[in-house]
Amino acid sequence: MTTYLVTGGAGFIGANFLNLLVPRQPGDRFINVDKLTYAANPASLEGLEGSGNYALERVDVADAAAVDRLFEEHAPDCVVHFAAESHVDRSILGPGEFVRTNVEGTFVLLEACRKHWAGSYDGKLFHHVSTDEVYGSLGATGMFTEDTRYDPSSPYSASKAASDHLVRAWGRTYKLPFKLTNCSNNYGPLQFPEKLIPLMILNAVEGKPLPIYGKGENVRDWLYVTDHCEAIWRVIQSGATGETYNVGGHNELMNVEVVDRIIELVAAQTGGDLEALRGLKTYVTDRPGHDLRYAIDASKIERDLGWTPQETFETGLAKTVAWYLENDAWVDAVRSGAYREWIDQNYGAR
Ligand code: NAD
Ligand code: DAU
Repeated sequence: MTTYLVTGGAGFIGANFLNLLVPRQPGDRFINVDKLTYAANPASLEGLEGSGNYALERVDVADAAAVDRLFEEHAPDCVVHFAAESHVDRSILGPGEFVRTNVEGTFVLLEACRKHWAGSYDGKLFHHVSTDEVYGSLGATGMFTEDTRYDPSSPYSASKAASDHLVRAWGRTYKLPFKLTNCSNNYGPLQFPEKLIPLMILNAVEGKPLPIYGKGENVRDWLYVTDHCEAIWRVIQSGATGETYNVGGHNELMNVEVVDRIIELVAAQTGGDLEALRGLKTYVTDRPGHDLRYAIDASKIERDLGWTPQETFETGLAKTVAWYLENDAWVDAVRSGAYREWIDQNYGAR
């Protein structure tokens, strides 16, 4: 039996990861370590309640004493580190929390591994979940490989770059066994509606303006979230220790193209007026330091580990629009703040 300490498991990608793996690996244990910030939603994990191999611990990964206690209590073999402040726009408005969680939180976890795994690293692993944004911006051509030089633009990507450097340094200096994945933009169910795709879906459904930064010509490389989760699992199981794997979907699109596809899907799935929906597109002031283009060369994980994405952008986006249309309760809870009250009620006195 392997015990996985999954940080940030109540967020978008972490919850998709746990929903996929907890039922599939009944012989393993999964401890979800999450501070339950605004970006978390315990409702995303409802299906796991009652699973004998799953538990949620409300803990801040930057709290060294609390993390130490978790290691004492659960004796994890593997840390899968998703927890982070993840939204670029929020990092521009308030970078402090990004440094605290993303940099200090990673440091605290690495130190806990070093302390509690001292003596033998046999069967131990720190898997660090990171982003392609550490590489900075591409021009019109080229792709990020695992050897691309780090050149982050935003406080978010700088904090993730710092965390990646810490992980590799703990590997080189203390021989801590680690693996690292740098992935492109994810989309799919359970994503907090501050990010482009869920924001545009919900605004379109409600007839609100669709705010496109600058000219809408920035390019992102979109990957369906469960394809990312399967890639992480593949790397944990079969990747080489000390190696980095880039993960991406070969779905490069300009933001305005993504918005156009969402509009078409919302019109088709709700019977809405296509022209009226198109009229909602609104060009707004650009994001400061906005990276022009991301594109991932995923040939290493494809060649060495046989991973390939299962969803195309067409199938994945259609499923995503349908999911947001069918899950009003999840959406309302996240947006109204009612779920925050639930969290305070349920966890406030613990
Ligand atoms: P998210 O914002 O949806 O979720 C983050 C989770 O981390 C939340 O549940 C939150 O409560 C938790 N968290 C935040 N601060 C914490 C702290 N101090 N202690 C414990 N838990 C804390 O993020 P996401 O989109 O699911 O991203 C997960 C990871 O994947 C991040 O490390 C991110 O950098 C990386 N990543 C994201 C994408 C993407 O497109 N979303 C792409 C590549 C990599
Ligand atoms: O590349 C991986 C990264 O993708 C992850 O590391 C981040 O955690 C994740 O948030 C995401 O970052 P982006 O900044 O690319 O995602 P976001 O959804 O915020 O924006 C996608 C693109 O859409 C970006 O070019 C900015 C633009 N945008 C975004 C919003 C929210 C708009 O034009 N309008 C908007 O309202």
